[in-house]
Order: sequence, then C-alpha cells, then structure tokens
Amino acid sequence: MKSDWDGRAEWWAAEVAEDPAYAADVHPILVELLPGEPGVTMDLGCGEGQGMRLVGRGTFGCDLSISLLRRAAGSGSVVQTRLPDLGWLRDGSLDTASSVYLLDLIEDYVGFFRETARVVRGGGVLVIVINHPAYTAPGSAPLTDPDGEILWRWGSYFDRGSSLEPAGAGEVEFFHRPMADLLTTAAASGWVLDVLIERGLSAETIARFPEYVGQEHIPRLLGVRWTRSR
Ligand SMILES: C[S@@+](CC[C@H](N)C(=O)[O-])C[C@H]1O[C@@H](n2cnc3c(N)ncnc32)[C@H](O)[C@@H]1O
Repeated sequence: MKSDWDGRAEWWAAEVAEDPAYAADVHPILVELLPGEPGVTMDLGCGEGQGMRLVGRGTFGCDLSISLLRRAAGSGSVVQTRLPDLGWLRDGSLDTASSVYLLDLIEDYVGFFRETARVVRGGGVLVIVINHPAYTAPGSAPLTDPDGEILWRWGSYFDRGSSLEPAGAGEVEFFHRPMADLLTTAAASGWVLDVLIERGLSAETIARFPEYVGQEHIPRLLGVRWTRSR
C-alpha cells in the first residue's frame, strides 16, 4: 500500500494541531459550504476529528486509520472503513456527507460519488474540500519567469494520474483527475451543483510560509456543495 495512514497518524495529528492554514484557508470554505442545519452528518475521512468538531454535536466520522479514529472518537461516534465503501449505511440515511482533504486521496472517485448519492437522502447535501485539480496534476509546479513573476506549470492536467507527495517521514499518494471528470461524474450520480469555490492561499498563510510568496493568484483549494436530486 502506497499510503500508510496509520503510519502517518502521529504526523497528521501534529499537522492539524500546528498548521494554521487549516483555520485560515480550509475551515472557512467548509463553514461557508455546510448547510445551516446539517442534520445527521458523516465526516468521510474524518482523521482525528477536527471536521466533526466543526460540524458540531451528533456528527459521525469514518476513516481508514484506527490510530486517527481513536483520537476522533472523542468528537463523536466513528466507524472504520475503506472509502468509498459505505455499504454499512442504509440508503438515504444521512442528511449531509462532508469530506475534507479526502477525495484526492482515493482512486475510486466514481464510487465515492455513487456511494454518497446512495446514503444521502433526496434533498440532502454533499460538501467536499480538496486540493484544487490544478495543484494535483502530476508535474504541476510553480515556475519563476525571468522577471521574477511566479507562473504555474499545468503538468499533465488532462490525464488521470497519481503522484507521491512527502508526508512526514513518508509519502502519500494523491490522485488527480481534471475538474470536468469530478463535476460530470457527480452529476451522473445524482448530485446537483449548488456552490463551487476556488481559492488560492490566504495572505495570512503566505506570510507564514515565504516559499509561497507570489502564489496568491494560483488555484490551491476547491470546495463544492451539491444537493442530492429527489
Ligand atoms: C489529509 S487527512 C484529512 C483528515 C480530516 N478530514 C481533516 O481534515 O483533518 C486524510 C484522511 O483520509 C483518510 N483516508 C485516506 N484514504 C482513505 C480511504 N480510502 N478510506 C477512508 N479513509 C481514508 C486518512 O486516514 C486520513 O485520516
């Protein structure tokens, strides 16, 4: 297995505790997209539970990593699963499914949209926040032109592919698919697009990480909210 999330658990818990980019960049998108009253909610790929805490009481979480689930259990009931498998949930049993930094870690995105559409009731909601596809394309990277302007190299954006990225002492595999694949597959699964947010890194995050100076205009995060067709 290329991504060993139990082996990355300590590192991920420290990232969550120490990386201010979550509060500055990621959580505002999640909060903007979540419905006012999320109802029965499952956080898919809940990690140590920060998304569950943000959604509020009564949220459930599921994840692959037992080590992270042990931490998340303090924030609500949790289940171990390898997504996109949600076979342990009944059809239409959720009001909301939410997922932060998960979809670009799983290969079977078609199964993700199909399974979430099965377990969320008609009129219910799916919210995701992921790395922007412009950022996950294998070979994509910042480039500095001779005048010092930072440009973005698209890499093999139109191809589906994966790349191994550093994660603590190891690596994690990121799966890339172009935006058109994500949106078309979601629509074919019964998800109706409500809101799509594309953002770069915030000024606050760039001030903390000087290596990102000049990249404010480069797409970095994608947030989407869909409603399940009835
Ligand atoms: C980048 S972390 C994000 C965790 C959490 N959503 C957060 O925002 O803090 C990715 C999480 O996805 C989980 N994960 C990765 N692949 C998975 C899969 N196939 N099924 C279930 N969980 C998975 C990992 O164990 C990890 O907790």
